[in-house]
Amino acid sequence: CGDQIALTPPMGWNSWNCFAQEVSSDKVKRAADAMVKSGLINHGWTYINIDDFWENNRDSKDPALQGEMRDEAGNIVTNKRFEDMKGLADYVHGLGLKIGLYSSPGPWSCGGCAGSFGYEELDAETYTQWGFDYLKYDWCSYGNVIDGLPDNDPYKVSSLSYNGGSELETAMKPFKLMGEYLRKQPRDIVYSVCQYGMSDVWKWGGSVGGNCWRTTNDITDTWVSVKSIALDHEKSAPYAKPGNWNDPDMLVVGQVGWGNTHPSKLKPDEQYLHISLWSLFAAPLLIGCDMEKLDDFTLNLLTNDEVIDVNQDPLGKQATCVQTIGDLRIYVKELEDGSRAVGFCNFGTEIIDTQYSDFEQLGITGKVNVRDLWRQKEVTGLDANTEKLAIKVPAHGVLLYKFSSSK
Ligand code: GLA
Repeated sequence: CGDQIALTPPMGWNSWNCFAQEVSSDKVKRAADAMVKSGLINHGWTYINIDDFWENNRDSKDPALQGEMRDEAGNIVTNKRFEDMKGLADYVHGLGLKIGLYSSPGPWSCGGCAGSFGYEELDAETYTQWGFDYLKYDWCSYGNVIDGLPDNDPYKVSSLSYNGGSELETAMKPFKLMGEYLRKQPRDIVYSVCQYGMSDVWKWGGSVGGNCWRTTNDITDTWVSVKSIALDHEKSAPYAKPGNWNDPDMLVVGQVGWGNTHPSKLKPDEQYLHISLWSLFAAPLLIGCDMEKLDDFTLNLLTNDEVIDVNQDPLGKQATCVQTIGDLRIYVKELEDGSRAVGFCNFGTEIIDTQYSDFEQLGITGKVNVRDLWRQKEVTGLDANTEKLAIKVPAHGVLLYKFSSSK
């Protein structure tokens, strides 16, 4: 039942940002193995999600991706790198993990592979028979459908305004259709609506059965990208709740970069800020890196239970930016136990070193304990009505604190 799954933001891995069109069953198995071996499985990381390119591709020169899109009965045909989807799902389940895949409501995926247009019900049934637990459903060539373009037209994302009719209805329609078929399945399948924030998806993603939806364009491992996504994402805050999550895209930490992997170009402080923001945002946490190349720093970032607890808090609130002081943006997330997670986030290039006293703005009053969640230690106890707190935040860095009443 759609309203009883993903009650906290989904956590896992997605193949796109490290493997793109080179993803294979073998690589997915190895990512799942690494999820277990690294110990990440013990910190809530669960989903192993195959992104685009498990299907055949209409214009690939790679023989592994060439072939029919569907068989005579209309069943989707997997490419030569994914010969046994049920076997793969069984393997991942056998490790105690869950597995996801990807499709598009248009005839073609963003990468030009077969999409679900006209086969939505059959595909939902197929995913169920294979044993999949998560579907990312990516708009892409649906734009061609509404524009009446031929199937083989370039699969670029089209503007909704071409349609001339109600943008909102057009945007919702294909997602609602798949949402209904998914919810008819005798299986809990997390439904991830991917259309990059068009038509204010945060306002209606839940009503089409979605459990999460992308609020922005694709992320890259640069500060400029993380910063602009974080700022764009803020407006979606009122719509997050258990089972309904705003998705600012994947985590760009570790070895990323489409097969020819390189370490994330984010500096260490930027990575702390990135993970802190995604935790404060109650965002789905999908690791985008090569799981077999996890270094100690990345592992440390992804296994801090006190930080993950902020993301997974059962109240399901998304932090809002309640105050800005120059380049300092202060995000507050209410937690189920009545405490507050506060991110003192430095979006500027200079260190911020100040005495903070404006606690009322953060909804914090009286005697409180202050805990540093990255360092997992108490900072101080203080009377928020009268005392100040020394804060020192590195450039593009963060202090992630939890304020709990000490009464
Ligand atoms: C779009 C999505 C990405 C990824 C690719 C796959 O760009 O936003 O996350 O799924 O398509 O082709």
